[in-house]
Amino acid sequence: MLVKLHSTIVIVFCFSQLKWTTGFGLGPCPKIENTRTINTTKLTGHWFEIERSFYLMELISTCVTLDLNENARGRFDVSVNTRSAWTGIFSISEGIAIPTKVDPTLYLYKVNSRLPRLINRYLPGTGFYKVLKTDYNNYLVVYSCTNYQIIHLDMIWIWGRKNEIDAELRSDLYALLNKYDIDTERLILSKSNNCTDEYYDDLDYYY
Ligand SMILES: *[C@@H]1O[C@H](CO)[C@@H](O)[C@H](O)[C@H]1NC(C)=O
Ligand SMILES: *[C@@H]1O[C@H](CO)[C@@H](O)[C@H](O)[C@H]1NC(C)=O
Repeated sequence: MLVKLHSTIVIVFCFSQLKWTTGFGLGPCPKIENTRTINTTKLTGHWFEIERSFYLMELISTCVTLDLNENARGRFDVSVNTRSAWTGIFSISEGIAIPTKVDPTLYLYKVNSRLPRLINRYLPGTGFYKVLKTDYNNYLVVYSCTNYQIIHLDMIWIWGRKNEIDAELRSDLYALLNKYDIDTERLILSKSNNCTDEYYDDLDYYY
């Protein structure tokens, strides 16, 4: 009896950990209707990670940026850049995002990575990602959700054209996410406040 109780507690504990780290929810993924199309040209360019719903290892948790380049037929060439907090060296994960026919705001992302698997595990992997909302000039909200029988796992990112967004916009975006029953309490501020200009110069140089 005691043993049984213990295992229940452990399971509950694990689930709450899982919820915190990966975004676990009961029931299927929220139904999000497709209301818009994406102007591929306007979405291209450089984006800074502002917030995300899951932990990255401290090792790579700084200065995550995203570059979108227009490819043929509404596709994007994608690169996700991160800087190692330990070495200052940055890494790039590359892939391609292909809009789906059913929903032009839903992209199939395929990773074409040069990173070690350990690091790569913490970056967006191959799968479906939805552009929940963007105004092209300030913010981009990306959502990914996978159904596993009676639960779902999801991930949220807020990206900005600058490395921070103002409080009013943040609360508008939180309201939007809450409207879709997406839990904003899980969002974690990305560590991008110590990305020096030097670093971005280096990035330009790299290309
Ligand atoms: C997309 O945006 C570009 C650049 O602002 C504009 O020239 C083009 O007309 C837009 N395309 C559509 C289909 O609205
Ligand atoms: C910013 O980076 C410098 C140099 O790497 C480091 O000494 C400092 O502690 C960092 N500051 C913050 C707030 O992370």
